[in-house]
Amino acid sequence: VATDGNRREPLERVRVGMVGAGFMAKVHSLAYRDAVALDFGRVPELELVRIADLDPERAQETKARFGWREATADWRKILEDPEIDLVDIVTPNHLHAEIAVEAARAGKHVLCEKPLASDVTAAQEMADAVRDAGVASQVGFVFRKWPAVCLARELIDSGRLGRILDFRGHYFHDYALDSELPMDWRVDRNLAGAGSVGDLGSHVIDLARYLVGDVSRVFASTRTVIPERAPSHPAGPFRVDVDDAADCLLEFASGARGTLATSWMTAGHKTDVGFEISGDAGTVRFTWRRSGELMFYDHADPEEHQGFRTIYIGPKHHGAERFWPVAGQGLGYGDAFTILIAELLGGLRTGGAITPDFSDGLRAVEFVEAAQVSNEREAWIELESASTAGVRSPTAVRR
Ligand SMILES: NC(=O)c1ccc[n+]([C@@H]2O[C@H](COP(=O)([O-])OP(=O)(O)OC[C@H]3O[C@@H](n4cnc5c(N)ncnc54)[C@H](O)[C@@H]3O)[C@@H](O)[C@H]2O)c1
Repeated sequence: VATDGNRREPLERVRVGMVGAGFMAKVHSLAYRDAVALDFGRVPELELVRIADLDPERAQETKARFGWREATADWRKILEDPEIDLVDIVTPNHLHAEIAVEAARAGKHVLCEKPLASDVTAAQEMADAVRDAGVASQVGFVFRKWPAVCLARELIDSGRLGRILDFRGHYFHDYALDSELPMDWRVDRNLAGAGSVGDLGSHVIDLARYLVGDVSRVFASTRTVIPERAPSHPAGPFRVDVDDAADCLLEFASGARGTLATSWMTAGHKTDVGFEISGDAGTVRFTWRRSGELMFYDHADPEEHQGFRTIYIGPKHHGAERFWPVAGQGLGYGDAFTILIAELLGGLRTGGAITPDFSDGLRAVEFVEAAQVSNEREAWIELESASTAGVRSPTAVRR
């Protein structure tokens, strides 16, 4: 049964169209092929039918490299094609809404990269469109599919951390430190919606929601360190109107508190996404720098043995079972997308629930917008969805 309450017909075969042929197109294209090989029999037959990019050479090259049947410069050719069942959107953020809404209306299932949209109005339209059309949706929050993150959630759900008190999450990078670097759509608020708090922070808020539950309010301080950059187009210096870094205080619907910090100007940090979650019975700690491990502290251990233990990820852990038979062999960035896409395809095959869906994408966009408003007003901002916010309550299992 689909998460939106609509029943979907199980699909034995899925024909895919992709819009955008840049970085994420490469990652997703590989993930489709790996998902079919690794989840053989559990996912439908797959055809990579058509890929679209405004840049025809890029579309042609991606087609040839990754085995798409056709390339086009016009994304509407994908939506008009009755053969295509699933539309995968890997374009800059401002295009997500128009393509996704039209795809849903054409009866296509939709996978869309994060952040779901540049603003809440667009994200809401997207969530409404997939619900009204009864099609499946998924948003590219890959980190919640990562085996060590799933293990953290299992520990929380089984009560091993007790009552959750704190979430401390971050995502740091340094790719924007170079002031000469043209940052194109990522630094234009009209196109991206936000800066680091949207690009990086949307991942962290999804982790926070997945592991601790909905956030009810936020207080954010953001800043733009380099106010002008050279854009790739149009010519001339470009006034940056998005944040380079953000520090947010969070209050969860459950009463837990937290912090969320993002920056794409933190020297020495490369894809440094991580979190620590503490409850009154224990703590889990994760960093992508050591993505094959989860640190776990159990306060019930005898005092003389207390300390963090390192759990090595292996085939016993959710998501990792489809890869290698031996623990500790390690998975990589692309494998996270393989898990995400394998679960999408598996859900299309059975007609079952698919996560994270557009309602999760909408909540993340709502957070990003609230953080920006909070910075402007120097005030706590209630999230509009707070009244219906979900409280995740661990079963009261205590050892
Ligand atoms: N899940 C993740 O971890 C993750 C990581 C990186 C990027 N992303 C997201 O993926 C999306 C794409 O990012 P990217 O890094 O691949 O960007 P990119 O700039 O590498 O690629 C975007 C492509 O879209 C094409 N494009 C632009 N307008 C188009 C149009 N009208 N029709 C067809 N193609 C068009 C561009 O020519 C370009 O090739 C963004 O929303 C980004 O936030 C997600």
